[in-house]
Amino acid sequence: MDVMTAILTRRSVRALRAPGPSDEEFAYLLRGAAAAPDHGGLRPWRWILLRDTDVEALAARPAGGTEPRPRDRDARSTTSAPLRAVLVFSPAPDQDVPEWEQLAAASSVAYGLMLLLHARGFGSSWRTGRLCAGHEARDLLRLGPGERLLGALDIGTPEASTRPARRCCPDVSDRVQRLGRPVGAAGTAGA
Ligand SMILES: Cc1cc2nc3c(=O)[nH]c(=O)nc-3n(C[C@H](O)[C@H](O)[C@H](O)COP(=O)(O)O)c2cc1C
Repeated sequence: MDVMTAILTRRSVRALRAPGPSDEEFAYLLRGAAAAPDHGGLRPWRWILLRDTDVEALAARPAGGTEPRPRDRDARSTTSAPLRAVLVFSPAPDQDVPEWEQLAAASSVAYGLMLLLHARGFGSSWRTGRLCAGHEARDLLRLGPGERLLGALDIGTPEASTRPARRCCPDVSDRVQRLGRPVGAAGTAGA
């Protein structure tokens, strides 16, 4: 699968079943994803792999009394996915690279991993919602004081019955501009 095809055919898949990637396969794909741009090569992230009872233990934690945001209502803390890979942002302190750049690097790894999983036939969905609300999940996962939960990738084999809607690629030329010209007036390359 070429890169453009992978990007255009990847969709968030929420109905997932076994098998998911083994720990070894996850590590292999993460090696690829870790090739994402990373200012300073700090790798300011780590992953915690949850399966079976680990996922249930996390789901059993109360959400800290925090009401979910309206758009998070479907962000259940339970999942049918055989693997829930929690993404922890671990910014390196006292670096010339500001924290926001490190956050951008961590996000790039997550997206790269989703693409690689997709190209391998796995589905994934990035979940935040209740998982990131409150301190309960932080405590269970034993996050350090400077660390932050960026959510989790639910990973598995897409249910055969779920055929994700085709991606419609909107025109985003209005998000591009050339200096000194109005938004949407980028012109053609080299113009
Ligand atoms: C940082 C981040 C957090 C997300 N959190 C959730 C979530 O809590 N629940 C959910 O259903 N989807 C979540 N998503 C997935 C988006 O809803 C999804 O990518 C978007 O609807 C576009 O769908 P697509 O991935 O199929 O293109 C999240 C995505 C990102 C990047």
